Amino acid sequence: METIVTETTWFAACRVEDVVENGGVCVKYENQQIALFYFTRRNEWYATQNECPHRKQMALSRGLLGSTDDDLKVACPFHKKTFSIRTGECLSGDECSLETFPVKVENGIVYIQVPLNN
Ligand code: FES
Repeated sequence: METIVTETTWFAACRVEDVVENGGVCVKYENQQIALFYFTRRNEWYATQNECPHRKQMALSRGLLGSTDDDLKVACPFHKKTFSIRTGECLSGDECSLETFPVKVENGIVYIQVPLNN
């Protein structure tokens, strides 16, 4: 079986204080828009593609955030399709999902790990 290795890089997306508490912002890496979310009470950060796969709207950073005991979700502001922020899975029963990205915080800077374009 062939193993496919994808090279990645961490890029500095913003400062911690640039992101509203329990909210999201859109950051850009090259030509890609990424939705960055901060769940303040849990002190957890997540990143997904900003484009909603339903109708290709760049909107998820402005989506409605919610949580259950074991998952965090975002609802697109256009037609309310809902996605798991952790896994990217569509929770509205559709055959579409989000790309997700690892996030880390160091010295007040938020970094997102993205694949390198070859
Ligand atoms: S464009 Fe997001 S739910 Fe339709």
